[in-house]
Amino acid sequence: MKHTNSIVPPAVVVLISGRGSNLQALLSDPAHGSLYRVVAVVSNQSSAGGLQIAQDHGIAIRCVEHRQFADRSAFEAAMTLVIDEFSPQLVVLAGFMRILTAGFVQHYAGRLVNIHPSLLPAFPGLNTHERALQAGVALHGATVHFVTPELDHGPIIAQAAVLVRPQDNPQYLGERVLVREHQLLPACVAAFCQNALQVDGMRVRWLVSSPPVFIEEK
Ligand code: GRF
Repeated sequence: MKHTNSIVPPAVVVLISGRGSNLQALLSDPAHGSLYRVVAVVSNQSSAGGLQIAQDHGIAIRCVEHRQFADRSAFEAAMTLVIDEFSPQLVVLAGFMRILTAGFVQHYAGRLVNIHPSLLPAFPGLNTHERALQAGVALHGATVHFVTPELDHGPIIAQAAVLVRPQDNPQYLGERVLVREHQLLPACVAAFCQNALQVDGMRVRWLVSSPPVFIEEK
């Protein structure tokens, strides 16, 4: 009989609304991908490109279209049922474009993380690249953080920074931030799944290593 010394990596459910490039990064990260298991991808949009990525990897997909529910709490109740079917240790918001109620956030307290395309606390909300350029900041980037009921707020796990260049426009800046997002998210998910993160108020301590710092080369 074949002997396998298998420790099953923690189960992760990923929530998406769109193209799913961060999902793709989670699924193909060479350094961290073996430390977690994406068991399902859930979308509020049946047209989300990321669903095809999940399917191509043989991962379960579920669609819970928010438009089909009378209100936010009915939508979230359905989402919770679908997510909990997979008993995830971690739920990752990777481009999930719905505002979540405190009830949903509480249900996943301490095991719900989000990736946001700015160096929080600067520029919560939408159009972050445009707003960063308008504000004239020298550094922009992305943040992975634990989710709290306040939008794009919550203990910061790690950040990745890029330099704002004179010739940048929102699209070009956003593309360079996205390259860093794809490094940042797998590293943070892996750290969570290794029990390497300890939350102390708004601060997250990395127990086994220093937080990764992804800074763009000049
Ligand atoms: C990313 O920029 C992420 O930071 C934000 O939404 C975008 C999702 O992109 N929350 P993708 O669907 O992962 O390509």
